[in-house]
Amino acid sequence: MAKTAKEWIKTPPFPTSHFVDSRIYTDETLFKEEQEKIFNKSWIIACHESELPGAYDYRTFSHPGGAPLIIVKGEDLKIRTFYNICPHRGNTLLYDPVGNAKRITCIFHAWMFDTKGNCVEISRSKQGYQDRYTCENASLREVRTEIGYGGFVWVNVDDNACTLKEYIGDSMSMLEEQLSMPLEVFHYHKAIVDTNYKLWHDTNSEFYHDYMHYFNRATGMMQPGYFDRKYTGYPNGHASVGSMEIKYDAYQGSKARSVGWPGLAPGGWVLIDIFPGMTFNLRTSVLRMDTAIPLGPNKLIIEFRGLGLKSDTPEQRAERIRDHNFIWGPFGRNLHEDLLGVYGQGKAMREGTDSKWVIHGREENSTIHDEVGMRHFYAEWSKKMNRPAFNPLGDNKLTQAA
Ligand code: FES
Ligand SMILES: [Fe+2]
Repeated sequence: MAKTAKEWIKTPPFPTSHFVDSRIYTDETLFKEEQEKIFNKSWIIACHESELPGAYDYRTFSHPGGAPLIIVKGEDLKIRTFYNICPHRGNTLLYDPVGNAKRITCIFHAWMFDTKGNCVEISRSKQGYQDRYTCENASLREVRTEIGYGGFVWVNVDDNACTLKEYIGDSMSMLEEQLSMPLEVFHYHKAIVDTNYKLWHDTNSEFYHDYMHYFNRATGMMQPGYFDRKYTGYPNGHASVGSMEIKYDAYQGSKARSVGWPGLAPGGWVLIDIFPGMTFNLRTSVLRMDTAIPLGPNKLIIEFRGLGLKSDTPEQRAERIRDHNFIWGPFGRNLHEDLLGVYGQGKAMREGTDSKWVIHGREENSTIHDEVGMRHFYAEWSKKMNRPAFNPLGDNKLTQAA
């Protein structure tokens, strides 16, 4: 065997927590199990309250566990979530991604529901059902919904899951003050990428890949404080990365940000990863929120939202939008680089080579280039899946002592 081939297949010289089997990014069966054991049991961000400003506003949402959902604001201004499925014969109820509907009428046989999920009309009810079945017997299926941590709308399709507060624990404490005032979404786009959702979350959990971002190298990596940023892991797989001051003017064509954020030091940057695929990224003047919604093991929707303060003046808002687009807009400085990083990653390695492993072995005192954030994630993944990430299918023989 050629030397290089041996190098590719032998077990890395690390403890088993420091590498994973590359099939966790490609295997269909594991993906279905992740939907059931991870996504269908976790609190997931469906949208932000500012995207449903008025009564009867709704958004549809593809839940990463597979269920189609409707998020709707009732006439009582409470936000509720329902399956986007008619209780009669299972037709889709709402088709548009965004809209306003006082009544939700199924196009199939015209059953009608209000925004609290009650059935308010069954067409030709008496004639067909007499008194055997009435509106009392039908309703939309509600999904647990909580608003929190910056006004995001969180859903959990598991009726028996813990509360959102218990799920998040202390992991959001670094942003408590910064997220305590009303926020507003000013930017939304989504990318559909050939990759696994975990690989995207990895880019938000390790900063070693700042080597890919020329902008971050100039404004971050080469600045004091960068290598002092520490990872802190929290229960349920969440993690935060300490703050630092970004020197925006260290990059030609960029300048110090004139608009800041209440409670954040000038030029400050705080990042918090929420398991299994959401990231709060507050960088000086803009909060970016990523939500990973896998469509399969190698197909991912990433929803990107940019937020400012609801109280912004038009000038402040324009500045935030400019700052956002410069770094994180689809044509901005950094985002497409991250997308290039993950495009094809995992699948190509597994199916295009004989490699078995993806390495998470950097140790640097839990600071910014340490891969402890990824290891923390995969420890939780292994616990939820009841399968070790280095041996998820139970058939790996380690080829050298771990
Ligand atoms: S399936 Fe909706 S009314 Fe029949
Ligand atoms: Fe990045």
